[in-house]
Amino acid sequence: MVAETRLGIDDLIAPLFVREGIDTPQPIDSLPGVVQHTVASLRQEVRELRDLGVPSVILFGVPEHKDATGSGASDPAGIVQVALGELRAEVGDDVVVMADLCVDEYTDHGHCGIVRDDGTVDNDATLELYAAAAVAQARAGADVIAPSGMMDGQVAMIRGALDLDGHPETPILAYAAKYASALYGPFRDAVDVTIADGGDRKGYQQDPANAREAMAEIQADLDEGADMVMVKPALAYLDVIAETRATTDVPVAAYHVSGEYAMVHAAAERGWVDGDAVMAEHLLSIKRAGADLILTYAARAIAEGMQ
Ligand code: PBG
Repeated sequence: MVAETRLGIDDLIAPLFVREGIDTPQPIDSLPGVVQHTVASLRQEVRELRDLGVPSVILFGVPEHKDATGSGASDPAGIVQVALGELRAEVGDDVVVMADLCVDEYTDHGHCGIVRDDGTVDNDATLELYAAAAVAQARAGADVIAPSGMMDGQVAMIRGALDLDGHPETPILAYAAKYASALYGPFRDAVDVTIADGGDRKGYQQDPANAREAMAEIQADLDEGADMVMVKPALAYLDVIAETRATTDVPVAAYHVSGEYAMVHAAAERGWVDGDAVMAEHLLSIKRAGADLILTYAARAIAEGMQ
């Protein structure tokens, strides 16, 4: 009766992986319970999530071939574009189907953009790739475009490209405050990404030491036309989620990332914690901090537990 916060199934967005060129779903060792889907198994998963009441999914593609510019991200025949079309046919408007927009899954060097000879990422040249990918995703049927590459100016570029191509009403969920975190390890297993030459993303993602900078990033994305903003990861950045909620009026999403999910499973496997209870406590706390929407690999398990 006096609970201030409630976690609901309708707060959840399920991240899903779809891989090109496989016949059966492939388990991901470091993400127990999560798989790389075939297009067919993805259709089934999204149908089941809909039946459980999960309102939204976000798609990540694992292409068969990678190249320097990540061309699969904007190819109409690229795996995510194919999957978007199939999901539209499968669930219509029942599920909000989001498309993560980045190129790291599609590049042979694993960076989120075009890499110069000296190994650094060319921010402005990369924006062209994002514009093309956004248009391809919207044409294929994405309800929401969610750019995660952390290039400066990406929201304005994508907004302009979507408008020009006749998608003025397709909203943008901006990964606005995304930290260069060590918690993305299992995700990189899931999408077969290794950053070339032992590199990292500190040149474009944020420094975990900085919170004021996160607010500047969020404001910049809102000024550029973001309809919703995201903080990522979630638990180590609850202060940033709370501050974002306090200072903006748009929906705030938090990404409970792969490492956060995997750590709970690993400890539970050893019998050291009650995994279901810890997972529910963590997600409730992310909600309490101010997130309206939570992207989590636990979406299905939480929804099943609430039936
Ligand atoms: C980049 C992207 C990443 C995640 C989502 N989008 C990885 C990265 O920035 O290296 C991580 C999500 C997770 O760990 O669950 N396309």
